[in-house]
Amino acid sequence: MGFSRDVVVIGGCGHVGLPLGLALADRGLSVALYDTNPDAVEIVAGGQMPFTEAGADAVLDRVLGQNLVATTDPAVVATAECLVVVVGTPIDEHLSPDPRVVSRAIEELSDHLVDGQLLVLRSTIFPGVTALVERVVAGLGRKIDVAFCPERIAEGRAMIELYHLPQIVSGRTDAATDRAEKLFRNLTGEIVRLLPEEAELAKLFTNTWRYIKFAIANQCYMVANDFGVDFERIRSALTHDYPRAADFPRAGFAAGPCLLKDTMQLAALSKNNFVLGHAAMVVNEGLPMYLTSRIEDQYDLSEMTVGILGMSFKAESDDTRSSLSYKLKKILEFKAKRVICTDPYVRNDLTLLPLEDVLAQADILVLGTPHPCYAGLGTALPIVDLWGLVSSSVQV
Ligand SMILES: NC(=O)c1ccc[n+]([C@@H]2O[C@H](COP(=O)([O-])OP(=O)(O)OC[C@H]3O[C@@H](n4cnc5c(N)ncnc54)[C@H](O)[C@@H]3O)[C@@H](O)[C@H]2O)c1
Repeated sequence: MGFSRDVVVIGGCGHVGLPLGLALADRGLSVALYDTNPDAVEIVAGGQMPFTEAGADAVLDRVLGQNLVATTDPAVVATAECLVVVVGTPIDEHLSPDPRVVSRAIEELSDHLVDGQLLVLRSTIFPGVTALVERVVAGLGRKIDVAFCPERIAEGRAMIELYHLPQIVSGRTDAATDRAEKLFRNLTGEIVRLLPEEAELAKLFTNTWRYIKFAIANQCYMVANDFGVDFERIRSALTHDYPRAADFPRAGFAAGPCLLKDTMQLAALSKNNFVLGHAAMVVNEGLPMYLTSRIEDQYDLSEMTVGILGMSFKAESDDTRSSLSYKLKKILEFKAKRVICTDPYVRNDLTLLPLEDVLAQADILVLGTPHPCYAGLGTALPIVDLWGLVSSSVQV
């Protein structure tokens, strides 16, 4: 059957769906962004980005109203040959994944699914979800090809990486894989084909690998710090012109909506017998408490106002999801006379103060996020900096 549009992105106004929709539209495809969040849809349909993503505003300007629309109307799903599902797949407060979140989203759209469509799953899914979706689609009596093509961009770099990273595509049949490959060849020349279960694990392994690497750095930071030496001096010396350690990360808060979440997805798949993953969680999630207790060894926090610099989960981002700066804030609020926070990027937290106010009112500063603008901060206040960004930081 003929379709009037090439692609509908389901979850199309989110952090992954929106850059993908923009990139496909910029390559000339006709794209609709379908999202259940009316606020995000209104912002995008009004020509604005709902979050910061480098390079995305210019593309949105170019394609909106030309070959890109944003809508909350599920009927749009029936108009496109390719559906790409990028809804969120969070873990719950007990660190458990919800393996049905993606299939539920698809079932809600069952009235709008059409024979002949290609359904691409792009959310980071619990292994086995592609097979579950295949069963759901078959149960609905639809002849739809299902593929899983994981997203591997880093937030903030999507508009570059979507065109440069190799794309893993997977399907149960050659037809599904071929169609997925054709879709992503609009973006990148390098396609890697896997089976769905392999691709599901490939994505989780990617994020878990990163999360464990950060934990190694953070554990070494604590070892060095407790030994009274500067971790970042050691790290930069040992990585200098030494390729085998080139990817030894800096210490820092390993946070955000993906790394812990996906490590816990793998833990759940391993029947919670995932020693390295859980150890990494203990190290990374324990860092705010470690820092606080080291600060307490030197300062009487009950008499002090603490200023936290940077609240987003990573540098030069406005995304506060699962940011460890907020965990640090919560711990410090229990210990200090007062805690005040600032961040030049974050827009969704009305309690934040301008940097000048924090510098004027705080007795001590803790670097929560290594925004480059903090590197040369002119202040006489002590700055606690586990990232190794601020040269004048104090060791705690
Ligand atoms: N954020 C990243 O850097 C990143 C990178 C790679 C992969 N991922 C994965 O991509 C997926 C999406 O992550 P995100 O950060 O974009 O999340 P997000 O919350 O920013 O975006 C998800 C969007 O889906 C919408 N949505 C939720 N349920 C829906 C439904 N039933 N129908 C239509 N829209 C719906 C939400 O309103 C939201 O706009 C997750 O599985 C995540 O693990 C994220």
